[in-house]
Amino acid sequence: MFNPVFAGAERGDVPVRAWAIAVIAICAWLAGCGAPAPTYEERFRPAYHFTPAQNWMNDPNGLIYYDGEYHLYFQYNPRGRRWGHLSWGHAVSDDLVNWRELGVAIPEREVMIFSGSAVMDWRNSAGFSAAGAPAMVALYTGYNPRTDAESQFLSYSLDRGRTWTEYGRNPIIRQPREGAFRDPKVFWHEPTSRWIMTLVHSNERRVAFYASENLRDWREVSTFGPAGLVGGPWETPELFEAPVEGGGSRWVLSVGVTGRAGLTAGSGVQYFVGAFDGERFTADGGARVGEVSWADYGGDFYAPQTWSGIPAEDGRRIWIGWMSNTRYANETPTTPWRGQMTVPRELMLVERNGRLHLAQRPVRELERLRRHEVSLQRQPIAGEAPLAEIAALGGAAEYELAFAPPRSGEVGLVLRYGEVSAVRIGYDAANAHVFVDRSQGGAFDEDDSFRARHYAPAELDGGVVRLHILLDHSSVEVFADDGLRVISDLIFPEGPLSSVALYATGEAAELTSMQAWRIAAMERGAD
Ligand code: FRU
Repeated sequence: MFNPVFAGAERGDVPVRAWAIAVIAICAWLAGCGAPAPTYEERFRPAYHFTPAQNWMNDPNGLIYYDGEYHLYFQYNPRGRRWGHLSWGHAVSDDLVNWRELGVAIPEREVMIFSGSAVMDWRNSAGFSAAGAPAMVALYTGYNPRTDAESQFLSYSLDRGRTWTEYGRNPIIRQPREGAFRDPKVFWHEPTSRWIMTLVHSNERRVAFYASENLRDWREVSTFGPAGLVGGPWETPELFEAPVEGGGSRWVLSVGVTGRAGLTAGSGVQYFVGAFDGERFTADGGARVGEVSWADYGGDFYAPQTWSGIPAEDGRRIWIGWMSNTRYANETPTTPWRGQMTVPRELMLVERNGRLHLAQRPVRELERLRRHEVSLQRQPIAGEAPLAEIAALGGAAEYELAFAPPRSGEVGLVLRYGEVSAVRIGYDAANAHVFVDRSQGGAFDEDDSFRARHYAPAELDGGVVRLHILLDHSSVEVFADDGLRVISDLIFPEGPLSSVALYATGEAAELTSMQAWRIAAMERGAD
């Protein structure tokens, strides 16, 4: 059976598409014109979220910091704008803000190069280091489309992640039984002096933990699951240690769930907080099927991964996610690229009502892109009041606002684009929810789940709701409750941002403060 990674990517597509591509290529050649070169000024092109110049992108892979560079590898189709021919694309940054895209790092072979991770083998445990250069080691799933097998493969690089050599004795872990088995994420576990890998048996809703002394020979040491959300196949698991606000640390196991069982009727990411003894992960308070903690309440946050190798003196745990949904990712209306990442987010655990919750905040480096600042004074919110100065900041902007909500009705911001599109971001007092409403959002009707309102429960902080909003040309990320609740949503408005207004539908509310910035476009550059 074909591996059902994405709707619309069936095997039967391939010959038809191959024909279509051949015909288009010949016509373009005859007409003397190729596909338009990327300008980064295209409609919907994000200003400060990573996108490849052209073609398809899904999950972040191999995130690693080494020698002054953050690496972002990603699931990439070098041949087109739909899922297929998976290879690892590559971008680097020295500040998590400005990304330089490099060529394909690990191309498709007889296997597609599915998701995986990268580590620095400082101790040369695998024996690949040479001439004083420590090896960067990538571990990933090789998916064989002929046999449908998913096995784990290893490649290494001795030149700062630019070129990769395939290990001669791949696969390093064979598929133990039928069924999807993928997405290795590896880290060094100091207390037991060995490497630990998380993998997923998707259809069994089970994470497998493997251990190794040398990155080449692995044995299973425990499993976790089924637990939490089991209504769809599990993907891209990761176990990482996260700082607890106020001191100490705890372990987090994050797991993607694809299909239609997620909070927004598509894919989503759940997490478990607990302990890890070097062999087994134990969730605090047990892990029951049906009890779900969501990393993000929006439609578009999937397959996140944290950076390995961040220096101890920095000490942050940072992840980035793919800002799309497996449900409609193949159809989103962007060209000549398709797929974007969220901003990098710093992670911590915060105690609330006797439990630890995952909080996410945009990394502070992003503040470098803030330009013109606008501040608003305390003011009542009644009806709809346009904020001309805020709208003038444009469609790539950042807003931090706090308001005292009424007891009923909703209050927030309405962003209007062109004549018909509107996106609402606000607080629904009766349900104590923050929300993003893209039901009138615009130019994307391919999937009936897209036009929707997405909610997250939120607590008041001293009587006020605080929202931190990152707006880009085709996305909104809302951080509420100091990052405890996040809603990430793609938007595809019909026209440019034309107005921003405060609005309240019930009793009058009050804006306590608002600061906003125009956000500059990232610098991209070439190698
Ligand atoms: C998640 C995922 C992974 C897989 C990759 C293939 O989006 O399905 O499980 O490795 O994408 O592109």
